[in-house]
Amino acid sequence: MSILEKIENLRSSFLIDLNKVDNTKEIETLKTKYLGKKGPIQDLMIQLKTCEKDQRPALGKAINDLKQELSLHCENSLARLQSYEYEKKCKKEAIDVTLPGRKNFIGNTHPVTKIMDRAIQILIEMGFAVQYGPDIDSDFYNFEGLNFPPDHPARDMQDTFWITDDMMLRTHTSNVQVRVMESNEPPIRVIAPGRCFRNETISSRSHVFFHQIEGFYIDKHVSFADLFATMEEFWSKLFERDVKARFRPSYFPFVEPGMEVDIECSCENGCKICKNTGWLEVCGAGMIHPEVLKSGGIDPEEYNGYAWGMGIERLALLMYDIPDIRMFTENDVRFLEQFS
Ligand code: DAH
Repeated sequence: MSILEKIENLRSSFLIDLNKVDNTKEIETLKTKYLGKKGPIQDLMIQLKTCEKDQRPALGKAINDLKQELSLHCENSLARLQSYEYEKKCKKEAIDVTLPGRKNFIGNTHPVTKIMDRAIQILIEMGFAVQYGPDIDSDFYNFEGLNFPPDHPARDMQDTFWITDDMMLRTHTSNVQVRVMESNEPPIRVIAPGRCFRNETISSRSHVFFHQIEGFYIDKHVSFADLFATMEEFWSKLFERDVKARFRPSYFPFVEPGMEVDIECSCENGCKICKNTGWLEVCGAGMIHPEVLKSGGIDPEEYNGYAWGMGIERLALLMYDIPDIRMFTENDVRFLEQFS
C-alpha cells in the first residue's frame, strides 16, 4: 500500500474512532494511539526514508498535514468535552440556596443543675458565700467531726461507699462544715453545693448518686428565729410565691434540736405531690450541735449557729412533678428537652 493510501486510511479510521469518543480521557487515549511515538504516523515517517528522494518532500508534507489535522481534531474535541464535563460537575455540585437551612440543636441546662444554680444565686443574694468540699473525704469530716461517734447507730442512716478504712465517698455535703470552721472566724455564712453518694439500692425514690446544698450560719446569738426566717425567705424565692414553713422534730447527730422542714404546697385541696397533706418535705435543719463547733475549733460558749441541708433531686421531683429519680441520670434527650 502506498503512503498516500495509508494516509487516507488513517484519516478515515481516525474520524471513525473520534466519533465514538465521549469523554476527555478517551481523547487522550486516541491522541496517543494515532500521534504517539509508537503510532502509525511515526511509522509513516520511518517509511518515508525508503521512498524515492524526489517524492519525499510532497509525501512528507502530506504526512505532516495529516498530523496537524488529527492534532487539531483532538484539541477541539478536548476543549469541547472539557467544558461539557465542567458544566456537568457544576450541576452536580450545585447548592440549592432555596432549601430551608438545617436546624441547629440547642442544648439546655439539666433540671438538677437548673435548680442548683437558682438556689445558689438566691443564697448568694442573701449573704452566703459558696465553698466546695471534696467528694472523697475522711471519716472525721464526714462523720466523726459531725458528732457521729464510731459505732454510733446514726451512721446506719447513711450507707457508705468506703474506699479505705478511713476514706469514703462523702454521704452528704455536711462534710464542708468542720473544714470551713477550721479555717474561718465567725461570723460564717456559707453554703456548700455538691455531689453525694450512698450505697443504697437504686429505686424510683433513691439513688446512689445525688446532689445537696448545705447551708450554715455561725455567729454570736444566732437564734431559731433566724433559721426560720431564712428558710421562709429562701423557699419563697425559690418557689416564687409566699411560702409558709413548718418544722417537725427529727434527729441528726450534728444538730440539736434537729428538725425536718416542710413548706406549704401550692395546691388548695390536696394533690398527689403533697400526698394530700398540704405540706412538702424539703430539707433537714437545726441548731448546730456544740460538739460540732468544738470539732471545728469554735467555742460553743461564745458562738452558736444553724445549719440545713437539702437534696436537689428530691426538690426537682417536687417542682417538676417527676415520677422517678432515675430519669435524671438516664440522659434521655426526650426527657431533658422538656426543661428548655
Ligand atoms: N446531712 C443531712 C443528710 O444528708 C441533711 C441535713 C440535715 C443537713 C440537717 C443539715 C441539717 O445541716 O441540719 O441527710
